[in-house]
Amino acid sequence: MAKLVLSFLCFTLCSFIIFTSARTIPPSHTTSNFTHVCHPARFSNLGLEMSNFAYCDSSLSFDVRVKDLVDRMTLKEKINQLGNKAFGVPRIGLAKYEWWSEALHGVSNVGPGTFFDDLIPGSTSFPTVILTAASFDEALWRKIGQVVSTEARAMYNLGRAGLTYWSPNINVVRDPRWGRITETPGEDPFVVGTYASNYVRGLQDVEGTEDMTDFNSRPLKVSACCKHYAAYDVDNWLQVDRYHFDARVTEQDMVETFLKPFEMCVKDGDVSSVMCSYNRVNGIPTCADSRLLKDTIRGDWELHGYIVSDCDSIQVMVDHHKWLGDTKEDAVAQTLKAGLDLDCGEYYTNFTGPAAKQGKVREEDIDKSLKYLYTVLMRLGFFDGSPSFKSLGQNDICSDKHIELATEAAREGIVLLKNNNTLPLHPSKLRKLAVVGPHANATSAMIGNYAGIPCQLTAPIDGFAKYGKVTYEMGCGEILCKNESLIFPAMRAAKKADATIILAGLDLSVEQESLDRVDLLLPGYQTQLINQVAAVSKGPVILVIMSAGGVDISFAKENENIKAILWAGYPGEEGGQAIADVVFGKYNPGGRLPLTWHEANYVDMLPMTSMPLRPIDSLGYPGRTHKFFNGSTVYPFGYGLSYTQFNYTLASSKKSLHIDLTKLQHCRDLIYDADAYKPPCPAVLINDIHCNNYNFELELEIQNVGDRDGSDVVLVYSKPPEGIAEAPIKQLIGFKRVFVKAGRNEKVKFVFNACKSLGIVDYKAYQLLPSSQHTIMVGDDVLSYPIQVSFGYDQ
Ligand SMILES: *[C@@H]1O[C@H](CO)[C@@H](O)[C@H](O)[C@H]1NC(C)=O
Ligand SMILES: *[C@@H]1O[C@H](CO)[C@@H](O)[C@H](O)[C@H]1NC(C)=O
Ligand SMILES: *[C@@H]1O[C@H](CO)[C@@H](O)[C@H](O)[C@H]1NC(C)=O
Ligand SMILES: *[C@@H]1O[C@H](CO)[C@@H](O)[C@H](O)[C@H]1NC(C)=O
Ligand SMILES: *[C@@H]1O[C@H](CO)[C@@H](O)[C@H](O)[C@H]1NC(C)=O
Ligand SMILES: *[C@@H]1O[C@H](CO)[C@@H](O)[C@H](O)[C@H]1NC(C)=O
Ligand SMILES: *[C@@H]1O[C@H](CO)[C@@H](O)[C@H](O)[C@H]1NC(C)=O
Repeated sequence: MAKLVLSFLCFTLCSFIIFTSARTIPPSHTTSNFTHVCHPARFSNLGLEMSNFAYCDSSLSFDVRVKDLVDRMTLKEKINQLGNKAFGVPRIGLAKYEWWSEALHGVSNVGPGTFFDDLIPGSTSFPTVILTAASFDEALWRKIGQVVSTEARAMYNLGRAGLTYWSPNINVVRDPRWGRITETPGEDPFVVGTYASNYVRGLQDVEGTEDMTDFNSRPLKVSACCKHYAAYDVDNWLQVDRYHFDARVTEQDMVETFLKPFEMCVKDGDVSSVMCSYNRVNGIPTCADSRLLKDTIRGDWELHGYIVSDCDSIQVMVDHHKWLGDTKEDAVAQTLKAGLDLDCGEYYTNFTGPAAKQGKVREEDIDKSLKYLYTVLMRLGFFDGSPSFKSLGQNDICSDKHIELATEAAREGIVLLKNNNTLPLHPSKLRKLAVVGPHANATSAMIGNYAGIPCQLTAPIDGFAKYGKVTYEMGCGEILCKNESLIFPAMRAAKKADATIILAGLDLSVEQESLDRVDLLLPGYQTQLINQVAAVSKGPVILVIMSAGGVDISFAKENENIKAILWAGYPGEEGGQAIADVVFGKYNPGGRLPLTWHEANYVDMLPMTSMPLRPIDSLGYPGRTHKFFNGSTVYPFGYGLSYTQFNYTLASSKKSLHIDLTKLQHCRDLIYDADAYKPPCPAVLINDIHCNNYNFELELEIQNVGDRDGSDVVLVYSKPPEGIAEAPIKQLIGFKRVFVKAGRNEKVKFVFNACKSLGIVDYKAYQLLPSSQHTIMVGDDVLSYPIQVSFGYDQ
């Protein structure tokens, strides 16, 4: 025993020494003068002749070059490249690289790969993703990605940023309490996936190479990463945290909800990385699940890129999940085999060597991971440089154009929730403004988390100061508002003003990573503040809520002294400007809620840890998201008003779809409610039919019948045939944001694929196309029509 312990100690110590010495090797470059790996001067500085290294020969394919690079490394050198801090191999001219940077809604300094200093003091800070999602504007999502990657490239050129960004966060908001809602595009898997593929393409695509079919050499502007895979949406709720949580998920929910955005991100966005999450799914830590990683991401979806762990996930497996009682060596062996290529952390770097010595690791698996990793760096120009981005520099960061786009994004996202004939306000009639509440002077609260340092900040009091004379009162000492002593001064200000704007809501002290909410109310005395100010205000009262998750503000909705309510998410560095522009009608709001705003008692009806999306009648749990919740809400998914009105007319639509089946295509059964009509051929398997052949169109005319120009978000849903047990109430299948001038018409056309838009996932996780009568619904049932799906056998 003693001997064993001793040799184990020595073994650990020895490996410590080996790795410590690896770390003390002087870096092969400093960031300030680094251009690219395959630069002859770099090699001669290292005492090497570059032409001896085939991996630097740009006449060869990336495959061949990457193989040459990996084949040159010893096992120890290979292992040194498997952590987010890749040490490089000076012996063969390979530079070190820091893989971890973040760019969720602007270049961020959260990861060690990126920093700000006197030369680059900040970057453009866009609204947090939940507000940008509310714009329902695909072109905007892509454009923001393009601007962020331009700033990232400029910072990279100046040695202040990396090339690989672990953004966006595309977990579906399954529960309204989740602390990370601000980082995400909301509750609908189709919206989340569409956001993901647009933002990723904005970050990654190099103009003119979007359609290249050699995916493993398609150039990348920067590399994006869709995270956190999968079924991750419990952070820290009551006593449950993500480091211990085991998400019990049905395959149906997996296919339909939790994996969907990732599938879209990989297949439609061609993302170059996916990050696995901290939690377990059905007992297995996601980063160790070869079915999730190797079979699904790599196998079924054909990822062109690398899979990375959430930071210290492997350690979490060992220390917290205590999965299989694994040793550290067992754990790295499990994750390598499962298909995890890069460890954000030090487990791969420290324990893959010992694991290999214990015979637990195949060197070939390491080679494979390194190939994925270095292929991405080659596509990024890390080896050869990127002439098309070479000229980007200081002037491309925080430019007026970029800051204007941040303002525009906030304006487009802001949602008008209530307007009792009051907004927009007219600046000429209202000179004296009371701007009160704990967010009236919001600054850093507007940029949320995973942010950088903003170029500048326009707080609400600054935005409103451009429209009138502002009297500012906080009303609460801070967002938690534990003290009512500041309410009175706010009331006094409101009594004297021509109009009162109350800015209230949440911030990171209430909802953020590692902090889920336990209720859906405004914190502390905020409700009192709002009611008391509204009761005494001389002029109209406008309530502006900053939050990511929904808040039960039924009291304000019903309070007739509160004339209008806006939701402004966390609106980014120009948030105060955007809010004032909307209130004073310089911009007509058109945003829509990307998630259901539930009534406060919703959270009493089911625990956050219950994963199913469908209602569980035996436990009295209601359904989740607009697809499965049929109860009353404060505001439903997709809700949002405008200062004008839009009328829809159906211009053309297809009302039936017939699919001929061969004798090898079988009818599939579906469970119908007891009293429902069940057709003789209830459904067919989507994989059995040539789905590309079955499209249907919808053309709408949108008329702006009001007297202001404005943008309308057209939301199109499909409803499965009546009576199919446990089918979604409705599914969002398309959306478009359309600008229509006052008194004018615009036509919009949608082309839907029958399988994607009318298909459902059954309880066995089969993707099926049901027959008989589906319904297409535009908006909140503003317009709807049936579409008949029938199957027939060729004779
Ligand atoms: C990995 O090894 C380094 C160097 O010996 C040490 O500083 C670090 O704490 C180790 N990390 C872990 C997670 O074991
Ligand atoms: C970068 O600068 C450092 C120190 O100034 C120098 O030692 C190194 O050789 C330079 N590298 C290159 C590639 O020029
Ligand atoms: C608004 O907040 C900023 C940043 O915290 C602070 O510097 C400034 O003094 C505040 N303005 C007022 C009027 O209190
Ligand atoms: C409430 O805030 C006021 C002003 O900041 C302070 O004087 C008072 O002590 C606070 N009261 C409590 C109970 O914290
Ligand atoms: C809207 O305003 C009218 C007239 O002031 C008032 O009667 C009504 O109650 C208000 N509605 C709401 C929901 O505030
Ligand atoms: C709403 O869902 C609940 C939970 O499954 C169900 O019991 C109820 O019948 C549904 N109500 C309607 C109107 O569909
Ligand atoms: C808009 O549509 C509604 C309902 O279809 C109709 O009553 C109204 O007259 C229409 N308005 C205009 C201006 O066309």
